[in-house]
Amino acid sequence: MSAGAAATAAYVVAALLTVMSLAGLSKHETARSGVAYGIAGMAVALVATVVMVAESVSAGAVALLAVAMVVGGGIGLWRARVVEMTGMPELIALLHSFVGLAAVLVGWNGYLEVEALGPAQTTVAPELLGIHSVEVGIGVFIGAVTFTGSLVAYGKLSGRMKSRPLALPGKNALNLGALVAFAALTVGFTVAPSLGLMIAITAVALALGWHLVASIGGGDMPVVVSMLNSYSGWAAAASGFLLDNTLLIVTGALVGSSGAYLSYVMCQAMNRSFLSVIAGGFGVESGTSAAVEGEHREVTADEVAAMLTDASSVVIVPGYGMAVAQAQYPVADLTRRLVERGVEVRFGIHPVAGRLPGHMNVLLAEAKVPYDIVLEMDEINDDLASTSVVLVIGANDTVNPAAMEDPASPIAGMPVLRVWEAKDVVVFKRSMAVGYAGVQNPLFFRENTSMIFGDARVRVEDIIKAL
Ligand code: TAP
Repeated sequence: MSAGAAATAAYVVAALLTVMSLAGLSKHETARSGVAYGIAGMAVALVATVVMVAESVSAGAVALLAVAMVVGGGIGLWRARVVEMTGMPELIALLHSFVGLAAVLVGWNGYLEVEALGPAQTTVAPELLGIHSVEVGIGVFIGAVTFTGSLVAYGKLSGRMKSRPLALPGKNALNLGALVAFAALTVGFTVAPSLGLMIAITAVALALGWHLVASIGGGDMPVVVSMLNSYSGWAAAASGFLLDNTLLIVTGALVGSSGAYLSYVMCQAMNRSFLSVIAGGFGVESGTSAAVEGEHREVTADEVAAMLTDASSVVIVPGYGMAVAQAQYPVADLTRRLVERGVEVRFGIHPVAGRLPGHMNVLLAEAKVPYDIVLEMDEINDDLASTSVVLVIGANDTVNPAAMEDPASPIAGMPVLRVWEAKDVVVFKRSMAVGYAGVQNPLFFRENTSMIFGDARVRVEDIIKAL
């Protein structure tokens, strides 16, 4: 068997492993094996590619490839080991930007190898030149949109950029104009390829990617991250067409379609229009939410311990602050102690709590909280009215009544956990500061709400001591 045929066979195996990886990642219980299949698939693909390429290039080029793989793999391993769970979303956004940049470079390489040489010198058949030019245009476009969009997402998620949506006048017309300009430039490039048109396509796409994500508010960032995940898949698939690499086409399409489906599911969970989000907040006008005023009530760890001693049922609603404080371990300990005393304890998880899909589930699983008491928002919401105490641990936007009560709020319409319906609510946070979406939270001023200030981990440990 030739190296080419062996590599094609290995590609089929790698594609199957990618499918098994995605299937595994869809459930808690099989997530670990999903990751293992993903690693195996990627390793098979890398080895097969190097073996195939080695047939047609010099030993020096293979050595360069090996150096690139060792350096890239080393950086990847180091980042994955040191990244905190709270820094994961921005790392993922940054990785998406690399996929986008790679697609732009592959597109430019395609142009330099074919169109820039002119029909007389390229090895591409004249009747296929037009198709090649369209592939170059689309590949560079998707890649550049993914690249700058992901960089803006990285900036917003890491707090380097404000999470408020950018509202340029005529933002929808700008987005539509960029799409029309891209289509016109690509037609022009296909008819008469030139360096100027390549630069123009790249510039329009870079600006569009930046504007699309900058126009989206903090509350909608989860959908944007999964959407960029999808774009990075399509960017890889576009590169696959240019490089004539079936594995890139297959895996790119798998990532692209699963990311698109995840975005759709998240839009449904958050009551957002899918089309509006992918079109950079199309149809969403930024309103001014009603001012929130009032007095809040502060409680001590001893008082919370007394409340919990009298409670028959407790619901714990974790949010991003639990991840920051790494409070999942004392929270799991508190849960065990309360259950031992005969209190019914359950967790209520909002679909976008934290900064990653499933963020809270991962933390609670890490602290060995049993899966069967960890419920989704829809499973627990109707039970909150009959709950004695709700402990809100570092959650804010996901328990904000303004989403239901203030139509002008930037998070209006987003379903939230109706924690205020419980008999008592205790909110753990360090200050009266707003959550990720930058919106004031009237929950903190409700009569049945008490605030316990300080780092959530320290405060939960204080309550355990007091119990
Ligand atoms: P947030 O609205 O982000 O609020 C977290 C709260 O935790 C803050 O108000 C903060 O208040 C508190 N906090 C931070 N560090 C703390 C600590 N050490 N101890 C105690 N409290 C601490 O949280 P959420 O309810 O989970 O909502 C998530 C938000 O992120 C939503 O707007 C969502 O759309 C967005 N988002 C989600 C995702 C995904 S996929 N989940 C991705 C991107 C964005 P203090 O500063 O006063 O302590």
